[in-house]
Amino acid sequence: MRLPTVGATPPLSPGGLEDAILALKKERNAVILAHYYQESEIQDLADIVGDSLQLSQAAQRVDAKVIVFAGVHFMAETAKVLNPDRIVVVPDLDAGCSLADGCPAPAFARWLERYPEHKVVSYINCSAAVKAMSDLICTSSNAVKMVRSFPREQKLVFAPDQHLGRWVMQQTGRDDLVLWPGSCIVHETFSERRLLELASRHPEAEIIAHPECEATILRHAHFIGSTSALIEHAKRSPAPAFIVVTEAGILHRMAREAPGKTLIPAPPEEESCSCNLCPHMRRNTLEKLYLCLRDLAPRIELDEPLRRRALVPIQRMLELSAAP
Ligand code: 13P
Ligand code: SF4
Repeated sequence: MRLPTVGATPPLSPGGLEDAILALKKERNAVILAHYYQESEIQDLADIVGDSLQLSQAAQRVDAKVIVFAGVHFMAETAKVLNPDRIVVVPDLDAGCSLADGCPAPAFARWLERYPEHKVVSYINCSAAVKAMSDLICTSSNAVKMVRSFPREQKLVFAPDQHLGRWVMQQTGRDDLVLWPGSCIVHETFSERRLLELASRHPEAEIIAHPECEATILRHAHFIGSTSALIEHAKRSPAPAFIVVTEAGILHRMAREAPGKTLIPAPPEEESCSCNLCPHMRRNTLEKLYLCLRDLAPRIELDEPLRRRALVPIQRMLELSAAP
């Protein structure tokens, strides 16, 4: 693969940065995977845009030499676990996640010692080291199915998102999941008071919410699902309007998939803040996307024994997800 020869400043071709990224992508034999929470310009350049499960499945089947992961660190790390022989690069290595960062592997290992009889189900929003301690990984689109894959008598720990865990408990009728007390900084900023005010001004709108939201929000939702499920619901539901309770980056794709529908982002508690935008996802920019393709850096690298241990519960999830 040819090494970069261009200077530090992205070149301004007639088509601008977008054209330069597309040209480099071809030259590098790269594929760009992007999450629905990314900036709209990044989503528009991506080969595949999806939720966490769809992006893991895409990472499993791509044949490009280079995977550029426009998302947060744990997503790119999952792609590397599945593709040890490919180069996996990210626009910004510091694009973390409050759920993953709030569940450090050493503390998780100590906590698990209290539950020797439990199997461990971990939300994909965690580090490879935490995945390596898990029996099964899940995403928001398959968490209910993954928990149901265990016999009822099997004791379970669910980590690291307590809100998703509580929603799964409600959906499965299991009241005994042991929850790690983590949460997403974006989804816990939504305000019940302001949501209800907004809903009373828009009685025609359905409230649709991501299961990372707190129970006080979810109890008002007409539909709860992963980012892809929310987009699909906005497309299929006959409702003319939706109050969307998740990261606002989703509105770009939702507007395209559900033209003619009114999409209203749910308000955070503080009127003046942009707390419904994930600060980690927003670290990725078009400029950084260009630079990571040019430099093939920063790369995700993993210790091989750790990668192999993390692979087991991810693969188990992908197999169970594909089963009817
Ligand atoms: P999904 O796209 O899988 O619903 O996950 C949302 C999320 O928080 C990604 O960080
Ligand atoms: Fe993590 Fe929340 Fe950002 Fe998703 S929105 S990446 S869960 S901090």
